[in-house]
Amino acid sequence: MDKFLITGGIPLHGTIRISGAKNSALPCMAAAILTEDEIVLENIPQVKDIDTERRLLASMGAEIDLSEPHLTRIRCATLTDPVARYEIVKTMRASSLVLGPLVARTGLARVAMPGGCAIGGRPIDLHLKGLEKMGATITQAHGYIEARAERLKGAHLVFDKITVTGTEDLLMAAVLAEGETLMENAAREPEVADLVALLVRMGAKIEGAGTSTIRVEGVESLHGARHRIIPDRIEAGTFLVAGAITGGDLIVADCAPAHLGAVIARLEEAGAKVEILSADPVHGEIRIRGNGSLRATDISTEEYPGFPTDMQAQYMALLTQAEGASQVQENIFENRFMHVQELVRMGANIRVEGRTATVHGAARLSAASVMCSDLRASASLVLGALVASGQSVLDRVYHMDRGYERIEEKLRGVGAKIERVRTAPDPAEESFSD
Ligand code: EPZ
Repeated sequence: MDKFLITGGIPLHGTIRISGAKNSALPCMAAAILTEDEIVLENIPQVKDIDTERRLLASMGAEIDLSEPHLTRIRCATLTDPVARYEIVKTMRASSLVLGPLVARTGLARVAMPGGCAIGGRPIDLHLKGLEKMGATITQAHGYIEARAERLKGAHLVFDKITVTGTEDLLMAAVLAEGETLMENAAREPEVADLVALLVRMGAKIEGAGTSTIRVEGVESLHGARHRIIPDRIEAGTFLVAGAITGGDLIVADCAPAHLGAVIARLEEAGAKVEILSADPVHGEIRIRGNGSLRATDISTEEYPGFPTDMQAQYMALLTQAEGASQVQENIFENRFMHVQELVRMGANIRVEGRTATVHGAARLSAASVMCSDLRASASLVLGALVASGQSVLDRVYHMDRGYERIEEKLRGVGAKIERVRTAPDPAEESFSD
């Protein structure tokens, strides 16, 4: 299992370029199941979860061409085996995204139950409830879910809880269903709107993307399309924090500033200087300067456009350097404080009670050997190590490789002292994922 060696205390200067959004690329790749034609996706991030999804689609019979960097061509002309096997699903729970499109395209889907992960139970009951409402018969046995339907029918779906992949899964079920589907309390994340943009290019009839009410008029079939994946707002947010926590002067480029409203607001509240140099949704640029002193700030994670749960761990690292006491409330997942004990090992002063963490700063962090536990907790430890005095050793960085493309190269490019120590791959790397 690879490790990172990071020497802290260096303010970051320069420009970091953002990759495509992993959490948009995953549903958009699953959307290729909905047509026999070729789907071409640009700006695909080169991260492990994308390779896992390619393996998943190929195992079902999809032809996948990955000869060009950051571009993937997928053709699901014949789906010989509409099954998402446990060996793949256990390493990436987003595999449940193939459930809706498989039932819509073939009338049958068998998907291994994803099981829990580091940050929570991660049920998919809302995905299944929606498919049943659309006429699918759902059975569960031997750790697999089976969904069958001659042809799904449009339905009025009201989500009990806002679910991002639940909204995406059921959107992909609805586009080929008979009649109209009205979704209420749907997720408003930019990645949902990006999936809708692709589906509409494929010939789907959808209104309301980006709002909590989405209306879908089912069509008989969908055709091929070419689509560019939006920038990764969480990768961008992570590097903005890197600029602030190291007291540097960083430009985050090829991002979509409009997707980072809540994150930018909290960074300014903490005392960082943020300027939007270009609001372009594809090649946007944000400059962040940390002026050394940071102020305690409270955050509470909410669904989009609120402060994203995927930025909670990274922002908490920043709060360890802020003068005063900050409250961090995690409202989305039940166990998303795995980074706390590792930050405490670096010298942070954090106390957790239920879903609230209280961070007392500013703490002088010192380098330590720490363990990555999930994707965003790992990012939090990188940020802590960038400001800790001495050289930290981060173990199990395969968690980072799932969602951050070449992070050590990108950070080195702006002055960070970080190197990857390659070790023999370990079966544990195929462990449960978040
Ligand atoms: C997506 O996960 C993202 N993953 C997550 O990013 C992100 O943290 C999460 O949305 C919230 O924004 C992808 O898009 C691939 P949810 P998802 O369904 O869809 C409960 C990362 O770091 N729930 O919106 O699985 C659930 O337990 C990853 O990139 C049900 O109860 O999250 C949670 O408490 C981590 N029943 C809440 O809803 C369901 O059927 C929100 O989950 C579905 C969800």
